[in-house]
Amino acid sequence: MRAAFVTSQTYRPFDADLPLLVDAAGTRGVDADVVSWDDPDIDWISYDAVVVRSCWDYVPRRDEFLAWAASVPAIQNPYEILRWNTDKTYLRQLAEHDVPVIETRWDVAPGDDLGDHEEWVVKPTISGGSKDTARWGTADEVWAHSAELVAAGRHSMTQPYIASVDDDGETAMLFFGGEFSHAIRKGALLARGEGVVQDRDSRESITPRESTAAQRELSEHVLATTTSLLGLERPPLYARIDLVAAPDGSPLLIELELTEPSLFLPHSEDGAGRLVDALLRG
Ligand SMILES: Nc1ncnc2c1ncn2[C@@H]1O[C@H](COP(=O)(O)OP(=O)(O)O)[C@@H](O)[C@H]1O
Ligand SMILES: [Mg+2]
Repeated sequence: MRAAFVTSQTYRPFDADLPLLVDAAGTRGVDADVVSWDDPDIDWISYDAVVVRSCWDYVPRRDEFLAWAASVPAIQNPYEILRWNTDKTYLRQLAEHDVPVIETRWDVAPGDDLGDHEEWVVKPTISGGSKDTARWGTADEVWAHSAELVAAGRHSMTQPYIASVDDDGETAMLFFGGEFSHAIRKGALLARGEGVVQDRDSRESITPRESTAAQRELSEHVLATTTSLLGLERPPLYARIDLVAAPDGSPLLIELELTEPSLFLPHSEDGAGRLVDALLRG
């Protein structure tokens, strides 16, 4: 098998998963290259599998990124998944199918009801790496941030700030080929009072974590719901399900990452091998 692991020129040095994936591919007889999605010299047809990885610059270039993805027949995850998953409005659909999602208001305008909360988070619906995302303590700040995103032609999401994140962080659940691989804890990223900060780095706050039965059950429900909503023949090659704890302790979905998630492979025992095995199973 010939496989391409796809990164971006800017972010390749920051992707700690890539070297482990290339190693795991090598030991399994897979001939693997690391390439950038917008490199015009790549012959995409020559690969049996083209696996999207650190394409973290897609956010301001989503149309271009999706057009590229649509043109690559062997792309993983498949184009239909990438199109759906690069806009967080997918959360609305999951919520309609019994997935507990953080309560979300869309495109709030000045004066709109924000619910009775002490703090809120405002973020764009198309975003990654917590860019253009902030934690606010007053309705005026929330309304202004949301209005600013909307005025820039984007869509905004407003959520209560989930207080458990400050102490417990969030739990990322990694699944390869539909099978659970490992879980990690990610520390809180949004500090009170800091406003919009563009270059937050979560890498230092990552530690391995044992997942709970409730987290496993919800993750499997999220994957099964997605597979059926999108009419997929098989579960996604890679999936990261990010969960936080509701006030009653039960898990809530914050994000389903089926596009270019960090897989936190250095924090797992041979997660890279499990991903390459899933790729070989097809
Ligand atoms: N409702 C929320 N409550 C607490 N923290 C949040 C909330 N929404 C986002 N965050 C914080 O902001 C980070 C980025 O938000 P997220 O929804 O994961 O988008 P992305 O990772 O695509 O930028 C999260 O990892 C978390 O630390
Ligand atoms: Mg996230």
